[in-house]
Amino acid sequence: MTPRTGLGAKHKSNPSLTVRALFGGLQVVESVAVSATAKQTTRRTGDYNFLFTIHDFGFRIIKMSEMEGKKPSDSSVESRYLLMPHQANPYGTAFGGVIIAWIDMIASMAAQRHCGKEVVTASIDSLSFKEPISVGDHVVLKASVNYVGRSSMEVGVRVIREDPYSSEEVVATTAHLTFVALDEDKRPCAVAGILPETADEKRRYENAKLRVQARKDLLRKISR
Ligand SMILES: CC(C)(COP(=O)(O)OP(=O)(O)OC[C@H]1O[C@@H](n2cnc3c(N)ncnc32)[C@H](O)[C@@H]1OP(=O)(O)O)[C@@H](O)C(=O)NCCC(=O)NCCS
Repeated sequence: MTPRTGLGAKHKSNPSLTVRALFGGLQVVESVAVSATAKQTTRRTGDYNFLFTIHDFGFRIIKMSEMEGKKPSDSSVESRYLLMPHQANPYGTAFGGVIIAWIDMIASMAAQRHCGKEVVTASIDSLSFKEPISVGDHVVLKASVNYVGRSSMEVGVRVIREDPYSSEEVVATTAHLTFVALDEDKRPCAVAGILPETADEKRRYENAKLRVQARKDLLRKISR
């Protein structure tokens, strides 16, 4: 679909621009904050990237392209550990904090691989310890990017307990984390979109979208 665009007005003293773009019959209105000295800025709305140039008396979209995205499989990460005694609690099963550290690490690698930038953990949105892991078990972690906002990425992690002798697998822990990409000035910056392909990836994308929306709705209600 080729987007048609119309441009809103800009006041010279107002650092916020309004852009109206028509995608088929759907009008998207986007506010773009620019600094007085900015010559160029990017913004993503829905499935489109905008690249603006800023002029004294207005601005111009110089590029509006369909989102350049990556598949979840392009950035997914898998790693494997052997649970050692010093990583266990007094009962001989995994200490939760060790598992969380592994989850945070592998998830951040998936986010970094997706966006190719520095990332920070903004939140651990859910964490469920479903099954214990014992000393001597193999621990397999799988992380992939489920969903992408403008600068944020939701990464899903599955921790699988594998029997070292029979290779029997049980999902022991699941988690969802949000990472934010930072630019050279340590400010949140836009990242590539995500292009889910398989049925599982599409399901994870839709579920993540619901989680992001629910978090925003909750924040709105709480801050009232
Ligand atoms: C995460 C952080 C960069 C967000 O900065 P901010 O000024 O609040 O940024 P913004 O309000 O512009 O939000 C940027 C994005 O982060 C998301 N975000 C911010 N806080 C969030 C939170 N608590 N949970 C999930 N997402 C969050 C926003 O929804 C937004 O997403 P989008 O760009 O996809 O729409 C900032 O809070 C930070 O630096 N936190 C400390 C990170 C850290 O030290 N982590 C632990 C070690 S890595």
